[in-house]
Amino acid sequence: MTNTSEQDRVVIFDTTLRDGEQSPGATMTHDEKIEIAGLLDEMGVDIIEAGFPIASEGDFEAVRDISKLAVNSVICGLARAIYKDIDRCWDAVKHAKRPRIHTFIGTSPLHRDIPGLSQDEMAVRIHDTVTHARNLCDNVQWSPMDATRTEEDYLLRVVEIAIKAGATTINIPDTVGYTAPRESADLIRLLIARVPGADEVVFATHCHNDLGMATANALAAVEGGARQIECTINGLGERAGNTALEEVVMALKVRNDIMPYRTRIDATRIMNISRRVATISGFAVQYNKAIVGKNAFAHESGIHQDGILKNAETFEIMRPEHVGLAETSLVMGKHSGRAALRAKLRDLGYELGDNQLRDVFVRFKALADRKKEVFDDDLVTLMRDSSTAAAHDSLQVKYLRVICGTDGPQTADLVLTIDGVDRQVTAQGDGPVDATFNAVNQLFPHNARLQLYQVHAVTEGTDAQATVSVRMEEDGKIVTGQAADTDTVVASAKAYVTALNKLLVRRTKSAPDADVKSVSYMDVS
Ligand code: KIV
Ligand code: ZN
Repeated sequence: MTNTSEQDRVVIFDTTLRDGEQSPGATMTHDEKIEIAGLLDEMGVDIIEAGFPIASEGDFEAVRDISKLAVNSVICGLARAIYKDIDRCWDAVKHAKRPRIHTFIGTSPLHRDIPGLSQDEMAVRIHDTVTHARNLCDNVQWSPMDATRTEEDYLLRVVEIAIKAGATTINIPDTVGYTAPRESADLIRLLIARVPGADEVVFATHCHNDLGMATANALAAVEGGARQIECTINGLGERAGNTALEEVVMALKVRNDIMPYRTRIDATRIMNISRRVATISGFAVQYNKAIVGKNAFAHESGIHQDGILKNAETFEIMRPEHVGLAETSLVMGKHSGRAALRAKLRDLGYELGDNQLRDVFVRFKALADRKKEVFDDDLVTLMRDSSTAAAHDSLQVKYLRVICGTDGPQTADLVLTIDGVDRQVTAQGDGPVDATFNAVNQLFPHNARLQLYQVHAVTEGTDAQATVSVRMEEDGKIVTGQAADTDTVVASAKAYVTALNKLLVRRTKSAPDADVKSVSYMDVS
C-alpha cells in the first residue's frame, strides 16, 4: 500500500537465497545462507526471500533460522498454491519479527495445462489458498507465475481475486524473461488502472534475464507503478538469472534525475556481498559485469587513463567507493603486522574475531613470503579460501608434488586425507592437472563428470595467485568448487576436492530417508 509520502520509495525484495539458489550448482550450506541473509539485512534489503520451506528439511531450517536472526528485514518464504506448502512456510517464517508468506501458481495457458485446471478451477484455488495464507499471516504476497504470457483478461480477474482474498503484495513475474521494457511498464499500469482494490496493495516486478532485459524491465515496471523490485545479488538465478540488485540500486541512484525513486540500500556494501555470493555459489562474476565486474572501474586505454587522472567524471558515472570498492590496491607485504591486516580487511568489508584473525594472519604471511606484493584482490581471495576450506570436510589435500615438462608422462604424487586417514598415490596423466585429478580419482573413486575447468589470475605478475573453478555433475546433481593458490596445480587440486566434498553433502541430502525430494513447481495437485 503506497501512501503519498511513500510514492517515491521502491522496496527491494532479494531472492538470492530462493530463486538465486535454484541456479544449477549454486546450492548453499545452512551457514552460508545465514551469512548471506545477515549481509542482506545489514545492507538495508527490505524483504529477504529466504527459501522454499516445503522443498527440503534444509530449506525449512534455513528459513526458520534466518527468521529468528533477522533484525530489520521482512522474512519471506515461498509456497505453492497448496495448503500443506503454505502451512510449512508459515511454520518457518512465523519466528520472524516481520514474516511474509509468498504463494504462487502458474496462470498462463501452458502452466494451467500441467495440473489440468480450467480457468474457473484455478480461480477458486487462488481464492482459497490466498485466504488460507492470510488467515495465518497478515503479510501475504501472491504471484501469477508466467504473468507476462497470461491472457490479459484472466490476469485482471485473478489479480482481483487475490486482492479480495487478502494479498497485500501482488508480484507480476516475467518468469521466462520474455517481456520488453515498454510492455513491462504498460502491464503494471493496466493492472493498477483496471483492478478494483489495486490502490490497496503494492505491485512488484520479478524479471528473468533470458533476453538480457531483466534490469531494464524491472525499472520500466517501476515507471508503470510497481513499488517492489525482486532481484538477486550478481543477478544469480534460473537460466540467465534475475534482475541484479546492484544494477537497479545504482541505476536509481545515478539516474535519479529521470527515475526519482529511493531505496534503503547502503550501496557501499554491494562489492562485499557480491564477492561473498560469487564465492559461496561458485558463480564467478564475469569481468565486464555492470557495477561488480572486475573491469567495471578499470581503465585501460591511454586516453581514458589520462582523462580519469584529470577528472574521474570523464569516464566514470559513479565512483568505485560508492559501491564499496577500496581505492588503493597495493598496501600489504611481508612486513605488515596483524593490526594492519585487521584494518585492511575491515576496509574490504571483513570484520574478524581474534581467532579468525590469527588463522588468516598465518595464511597471509605464507602468501606474502611467496608473493612480493599482496593486493586487495589477493586478500579477498585469501578470505574466500579460508571460509571455504572447512576443517570438517571429508576430503582434504595434504601434500602434492607434480613432475611436468616437455618430456612426459606428467606425474602427480598426492596425499589426500579421507575422513581423517592419510592416503597416498602416484598417478600419471596428460599434463599436470590431469595427473592430479587422476590421483584424486584413484584415492576417491566416483562417477562425477567434470563439466568445467577454469583458471583466472587474481592479480598481475607471474607470482599472481590463480583462482581455479570447477563444475562437476553426478546423476543430475551439479556442484562447483573454487580455490586459489600461487601454484595453479595446487589450486586445481583444492578446487576439485572442494567440489567432491560438496557432492558428498548433496549425496547425503538426497538419500531416500533424508530430505523430502525437491518439489516440482508445476505439481499443484
Ligand atoms: O520466476 C518466477 O515466476 C518465480 C515465481 C515463483 C515468483 O520465481
Ligand atoms: Zn523467478
